[in-house]
Amino acid sequence: MSLVGIVPAGGSGERLGAQRPKAFVVLAGRAMLEWSVEVLERVCDRVVVAVPEGFEADDAVPGGASRSESVRNAVAAAPEADVYVVHDAARPLLTEELVRRCVDALAEGVDGAIAGAPVTDTIKHTDGQGRVVSTLERSALWAVQTPQVFRAGALRRALDADAATLAGATDDASLVEATGGRVDVVDARIENFKVTTPLDLRMAEAVLAERC
Ligand code: CTP
Ligand code: MG
Repeated sequence: MSLVGIVPAGGSGERLGAQRPKAFVVLAGRAMLEWSVEVLERVCDRVVVAVPEGFEADDAVPGGASRSESVRNAVAAAPEADVYVVHDAARPLLTEELVRRCVDALAEGVDGAIAGAPVTDTIKHTDGQGRVVSTLERSALWAVQTPQVFRAGALRRALDADAATLAGATDDASLVEATGGRVDVVDARIENFKVTTPLDLRMAEAVLAERC
């Protein structure tokens, strides 16, 4: 079985506001994406990274206009895969143990297995103007992360969508769900958080410093 890691790293990192694309910001001594690539290489046969223009390297493909287009470009470069392990460069606290648990969860006969954590905040639905419409039942809610692991055929079918559909998707599993795929959530730790803002970067530095 061929396992291929897919790392979308093609974003600009607008909300982080650094001098360079977020995946290339130095975090605890190395480019942010290297933390994830190193962990994925321990589990996968190959890792393909989608990068912004000007950051081309070995086993890197050009990023797309949206995250899902970046994933699609990387998937297209690895047609040999039986299973894809998609993981955002923006989650540098990935562990080998979490990748393996997601891969193992595919054995349940599902199309995808995705890392997530039970939400700790109460989540409200609003009308878009800030007026609360309803309060969601928290016990059923998961904040979804990556890795998201898929049977290759299911992910390829899901990514065969128009640019607007791809641009509207905030994760890969939602595209797989929309094409009839079954997806299970794997309980992950909140330490696998996404680096979005400068505060997240400081927290990631602190966690990595503790680990080393
Ligand atoms: N990503 C990508 N291609 C894009 C947009 C995003 O590969 N066109 C990647 C990012 O590099 C990141 C992951 O998708 O690893 C999650 O996206 P996000 O956290 O939103 O990162 P950015 O889009 O870079 O940040 P921002 O939205 O603040 O600009
Ligand atoms: Mg983004």
